[in-house]
Amino acid sequence: MSQIISVHSFRGGTGKSNTTANLAATFAAQGMRVGVVDTDIQSPGIHIIFGMGDQRPPHSLNDYLNGDCRIEEAAMDMTPGLGVSLKGRVFLIPSSTQISQITRFLKGYDVGVLVDGYEQAIKMLNLDALLIDTHPGLNNETLMSVSVSDALAVILRPDFQDYQGTAVIVDISRRLGVQNMVLVANKIPLNLHLDQLRTNLETQYRCPVGALLPHSEEMMALGSEGVFVLRYPNHPISAEIKRLAQMLLA
Ligand SMILES: Nc1ncnc2c1ncn2[C@@H]1O[C@H](COP(=O)(O)OP(=O)(O)O)[C@@H](O)[C@H]1O
Ligand SMILES: [Mg+2]
Repeated sequence: MSQIISVHSFRGGTGKSNTTANLAATFAAQGMRVGVVDTDIQSPGIHIIFGMGDQRPPHSLNDYLNGDCRIEEAAMDMTPGLGVSLKGRVFLIPSSTQISQITRFLKGYDVGVLVDGYEQAIKMLNLDALLIDTHPGLNNETLMSVSVSDALAVILRPDFQDYQGTAVIVDISRRLGVQNMVLVANKIPLNLHLDQLRTNLETQYRCPVGALLPHSEEMMALGSEGVFVLRYPNHPISAEIKRLAQMLLA
């Protein structure tokens, strides 16, 4: 059965898009057909990580939400451009980068249409997993996506600005009935003690930690111009992403 997996955080810049892309590539390397939907309509970005240049598909998620196309018509197979051969496939449904298309949805949109789109994408693209890259914070559209997800990765940085809001996200997601929720700590300063951090997070949020991802100079240097796990398959972060991928499928 196909899985819907959301990647969310309370604040922006925590690493949602990079983690989503890394998970997608990890699943595809294992032979899965993976869809990725960029629901961060206000600040789309994951298309850059997948190397989508000027060759954009004729349609975007915005067109689908506006009733101008079917969702699968907004999907593009990113696998050939990823630079390594993968057993599976990665399809991206990007959000539009056109200002007019972004502003059109600032007041929100029909979340029912979005959720219908998930089911259609899974069926029409024959997906094993659908990953949802979200807009940060507590917004109606994201909470709806979370509520239909089989698994949720909640990303936070070890930063006091993230802690309280993350507790709210975890609490609401639990009430929304998400079965499989895991925490991901990202951009961890190199001098923090990882075992201690894991214990603290699991105690504070009563939620398993799926990955502890240190701040990485390689990730900084990559600058979202590629998928980290494909560029650095033997890096400890790639091993950690693999473990996270397994936990999200469990
Ligand atoms: N572990 C890490 N170490 C260093 N930089 C990171 C790490 N994770 C993400 N980044 C960088 O942080 C920035 C924001 O990441 P992104 O995935 O776009 O976050 P979000 O989607 O949550 O806004 C990017 O420039 C990315 O390269
Ligand atoms: Mg993002």
